[in-house]
Amino acid sequence: MKLHIVVDERNDTRYKRPTLSSKVRNVLFTASVFAGTCLFLISKFGHPESYSSFSHPQTIAEFQKCSIKTFLDTGLPFLSSASPLPISEFVSRRNSLAKALLQDGIDAFIVEPGYTFKYYANISQPDWEVWEPEERPFLMIVQPITSGTREITARTRFLAPSFEVERARLLGMPFEEEVEFIPWEEHWNPYATLLQNWDTSSPSHAHTISNPKVMVDDEIRDFIPRGLSLSGFNVAGLGSEVEKVKQTKTPGEVELLRAVNTGTVEAVRAMRKCMYPSLTENEVTNVLDDTLRAAGLEPFFDIVLFDEDASNPHGGTDGSKVLEAETFVLIDVGAHLHGYSSDICRTFFPPFFPKPSSLSCLSPAIKEKLAVWDIVFEAQKQSLHALKSGNTAASVDIAARGVIEKAGYADAFTHRVGHGIGIKAHESPYLNKGNVNVTLRAGMTFTSEPGVYLVGKFGARHEDILLVKEEGEPEILTGRRATGPWDP
Ligand SMILES: *[C@@H]1O[C@H](CO)[C@@H](O)[C@H](O)[C@H]1NC(C)=O
Ligand SMILES: *[C@@H]1O[C@H](CO)[C@@H](O)[C@H](O)[C@H]1NC(C)=O
Repeated sequence: MKLHIVVDERNDTRYKRPTLSSKVRNVLFTASVFAGTCLFLISKFGHPESYSSFSHPQTIAEFQKCSIKTFLDTGLPFLSSASPLPISEFVSRRNSLAKALLQDGIDAFIVEPGYTFKYYANISQPDWEVWEPEERPFLMIVQPITSGTREITARTRFLAPSFEVERARLLGMPFEEEVEFIPWEEHWNPYATLLQNWDTSSPSHAHTISNPKVMVDDEIRDFIPRGLSLSGFNVAGLGSEVEKVKQTKTPGEVELLRAVNTGTVEAVRAMRKCMYPSLTENEVTNVLDDTLRAAGLEPFFDIVLFDEDASNPHGGTDGSKVLEAETFVLIDVGAHLHGYSSDICRTFFPPFFPKPSSLSCLSPAIKEKLAVWDIVFEAQKQSLHALKSGNTAASVDIAARGVIEKAGYADAFTHRVGHGIGIKAHESPYLNKGNVNVTLRAGMTFTSEPGVYLVGKFGARHEDILLVKEEGEPEILTGRRATGPWDP
């Protein structure tokens, strides 16, 4: 078909001043070229290469399969450095505790099954009583003694119900010598029994034999220190040198933390590649849990929050919110490996919302997400610079908070910047701006997890694990930090 092009002289604006309507046409033309470029860029840069290498999941079963396969296909190199701790590590922990007790002028440390008991003797509360914590005290008592070489070592004994002594022996606690028990019969007072069997040879024995000074751990139920006091013990709460023993990690502990935390981040990255529209937060949680388990990491919390659900840092909504292209996904998850904890957080866009080459094409709502993501990232970076031996715990929080305040989001950063981490996800010291009297020491491990929470909109948080070094910047125990919301 032949086209007839008719030029109407009246519409030819080449030699005339532009009319208002032609100005409007020009604006519309420019806008449509711009929009066309945006569409072109999005279609060019956003397609299958950002998806996982095989056909993209459309059902939960396919999602799960894809996520586990993508994770296992990495070969899990980050787990290879981790091995269970030897008995000698537990022996040296108790000896360090003995030295700390002597420094603090305390005759003995007393703790019941829980995280601290697990740290010194490998037994958690459920390891001892899988049913429920009982009223019968089962206590570990650690006293400093002077060995032949005048070196301070630990004498550890266990106060146990008589009928439970054999079961306690079967726990196989990590001791090089035979485990010592002080049994108490059901009709006896357990604390009076302990006092009658007190080892008075302790070099820190600065008190009368009838009133030994003991320190109890934070993880002890109140009736136990009360019972000890009523029987004549002089009871102090956890503090000073004793509290510090758990805070610095050995190379073996650091490798376990590195393995479990790097593995947890990599599991989130693998799972993300397989996400598809319409998934709920609960469905993502379940698949991420199973992905972690497939590599031998046991999840113990897994918070998945979409957009406004993430404006509460720990969630609280019912997990039914549905994933869409422009959803900001916040995942905070922790798992255990050989008793050590991970605790990491990532904030990202799903893989089916591709990264455009030009961010100017994006809606104001998305631009705000990007801006906040960057602010939180910078806050985390500044906290890392402050995480140095000799600095205060407060200074790390203040460094991150300064960035967020300067960006105008002071009120939206509602929690401290981080906490110690080890066998427990949250350990002392705590990185808050009031903790001005605690000094960081090489070997301490922390989370840095600044966040900004905009009610009704979204939340963004980045959490990595860091090791304080003798000198300079901390070491990252999460492999690597995120680089952006398309590369968590
Ligand atoms: C500590 O306990 C775990 C099981 O909870 C066990 O696998 C490990 O071998 C124990 N370690 C030692 C040194 O006994
Ligand atoms: C920090 O230590 C100083 C000096 O010992 C003391 O006056 C102050 O109350 C302490 N601050 C806190 C928050 O514990």
